[in-house]
Amino acid sequence: GKVAVLFGGNSAERKVSLASGTAVLNALQSAGIDAHKFDPAENPIGDLVLSGFDRAFIILHGRGGEDGSMQGALQLLGIPYTGTGVLGSALAMDKVFSKQVWSALGLPTARYKVVTKARVNSATKPDYAEILAQLSGVAMVKPAREGSSIGMAKVEDAQELENAVQLALEYDDDVLVEEYINGPEYTVTILNGVALPSIRMATPHVFYDYDAKYNDKTTEYHCPSGLDDATEKQIGELSLNAFYGLSGRGWGRVDLMQNELGVFMLLESNTVPGMTETSLVPKAAKQAGLSFEQLALQVLASSLE
Ligand code: DAL
Ligand code: MG
Repeated sequence: GKVAVLFGGNSAERKVSLASGTAVLNALQSAGIDAHKFDPAENPIGDLVLSGFDRAFIILHGRGGEDGSMQGALQLLGIPYTGTGVLGSALAMDKVFSKQVWSALGLPTARYKVVTKARVNSATKPDYAEILAQLSGVAMVKPAREGSSIGMAKVEDAQELENAVQLALEYDDDVLVEEYINGPEYTVTILNGVALPSIRMATPHVFYDYDAKYNDKTTEYHCPSGLDDATEKQIGELSLNAFYGLSGRGWGRVDLMQNELGVFMLLESNTVPGMTETSLVPKAAKQAGLSFEQLALQVLASSLE
């Protein structure tokens, strides 16, 4: 049938989605699929029905595409779509609620505090020094529902924390303040029930930020990641539990960091991970013997689950 490749959108990750979506569209078309671009920022979503689309490949990143709202709209329109459903998308988009679910399941994730816009603007401002002290003095500050490290900062004192919270509040009303984890960062792609080989990222930046993700040639991607077989199995199993624990479906990518003791700590699960030139999922797929085209077809297959 006719496939709509949904990309672009209005989120802060629009640019990333345009790159991911173009790559996916080209791959599906060269595989002989009757695939067409559909940018919800330019067309009302109801046009999907009017234009006779049978299913949708969602490659929108961030809010409005990855957070359950688009998934809900497609469901109401009766159009099958790739990847995770409404609840799982909403949960995974929100780093605070993701951590709450993982904690409830006994899965490892760093300690954290939440700072809300309402509290910051209230008569009693948060005690930033106290928050930081409770998180061992160094923290990552993140908008609860963003992607690609947008609005994030590393902080080491109360003033930096307050500034970072102000920055994050430009992107979301809820801010996650997470204990800093010192170890290397890993990511694991989940594809139709299987954990693909892990990737270890290394960057000279303070952290794996937007620039390191998409622009900077100094970022190193190690795949295979260098873990021994038992540890690779462990990170794969943890990632599967994290992904399905958040009601994930089809495909996704779980990000983790290893602390000083070598313990993997869950950062987040991405339900519409990047598919750009420099993105991680295509690298893991390649290591597993899958071309970009085969990867796109397998993700498309998840729309019929
Ligand atoms: N949020 C970006 C697209 C990623 O996870 O790859
Ligand atoms: Mg993300």
